[in-house]
Amino acid sequence: MNILLTGGTGYIGSHVAVVLSEMSHRVVLYDNLSNSVRTVADRIGEIVGKSCEFVRGDIRDTDFLQKALREYEIDAVVHLAGLKAVGESVDKPIEYYSNNVQGTISLLEAMKAEDVKRLVFSSSATVYGQPQYLPIDESHPTSATNPYGRSKLHIEEMLGDLAISDPDWHVACLRYFNPVGAHETALLGENPSGKPNNLVPFIAQVASGTRAVLSVFGDDYDTSDGTGLRDYIHVMDLAEGHALALQFLVDNAGWHAINLGTGQAYSVLEMIKSFEHVSGRKIAFEVMPRRSGDVAACYADAEKARNLLGWTATRTLENMCSSTWHFQQTVDKYTAQCPKQPECDKARR
Ligand code: NAD
Ligand code: WQD
Repeated sequence: MNILLTGGTGYIGSHVAVVLSEMSHRVVLYDNLSNSVRTVADRIGEIVGKSCEFVRGDIRDTDFLQKALREYEIDAVVHLAGLKAVGESVDKPIEYYSNNVQGTISLLEAMKAEDVKRLVFSSSATVYGQPQYLPIDESHPTSATNPYGRSKLHIEEMLGDLAISDPDWHVACLRYFNPVGAHETALLGENPSGKPNNLVPFIAQVASGTRAVLSVFGDDYDTSDGTGLRDYIHVMDLAEGHALALQFLVDNAGWHAINLGTGQAYSVLEMIKSFEHVSGRKIAFEVMPRRSGDVAACYADAEKARNLLGWTATRTLENMCSSTWHFQQTVDKYTAQCPKQPECDKARR
């Protein structure tokens, strides 16, 4: 298949590109580089042993998208482009609705015009809001507590309406739980600019000495050790889920929401312990008050992905932490060699 991968040079997109390319799909990366760099395409090429096609463009540019769909004879789109920081979305809601919702409308217009009606969309477990029961299956009620989550929910609902309006659309909304980890070569991974919002990149930076201490947001939750429980999933398992979703859509029309999680939850303290084990470094942490908007526990019922896609996550917590650590060390080495650190950081993202 010829696949347009929006957000293709981003953290998750780059791993999806590797998996799809290794399955002999033709992958065209489409990204405006607002949160990634062009050299990621070269690194993907290095891993898969052939050059990876890259188009610099914004998903809000419908005409340009349409041209790309036509030029590369695209059969299906995997749509990951968007903004993803919960806190930032509260401060900049318009940017989030513009990039995520307006961007997706623009993509759908372009796809409709070119009669490309197969779409895998990167949704999030954030659409479940405050969990009402655990583990969370796809029938769990949806809601949103911030503009980022609401943008994902709006998109899912739009896609549902579209599939009802026209039976030719084949759409999968993949609801990711907590993606972590990096490619085994350490050529790809998550290297956030500025202070990481998420736990695992923060732990990695404390292990490497980039940051002094991790704040543990609350140890008084009703969980085994009082800290938050999450369903961490290796980014390569997640990427493989996209390939299987594309395959599923070949014979299945309509709108499908599917969780991608392991079904296994780990606490913040367990994550710290596992990272200390793989890195051999002590992770300094201090317990702080709960972070606003956090829930005690969130983990998936992953049965639907197993039944519909034949997908289950296979990589362990140790794989997740060791690949993150390997990638972090590579970033550190590169940063140390680079005389102009800010440009260097940017180049590695
Ligand atoms: P990322 O920021 O690394 O990747 C997103 C990519 O989209 C970036 O390369 C960015 O440059 C690009 N982009 C942003 N706006 C664009 C636009 N208007 N036009 C073209 N390109 C644009 O983020 P990620 O972690 O790889 O996330 C990918 C997707 O998965 C996002 O949609 C995110 O909401 C979703 N998701 C991520 C997580 C997570 O924890 N990382 C969890 C659930 C869902
Ligand atoms: C995990 C646990 C924190 C940082 C977020 C988004 C969600 C999705 C994935 C996109 C929690 C604790 C964290 C820190 C800590 N993204 N923590 N110290 O909040 O489950 O999910 O990313 O769709 O929408 O909300 O992930 O990694 O931020 O937090 O103690 O410095 O780690 O309280 O228990 P979260 P996270």
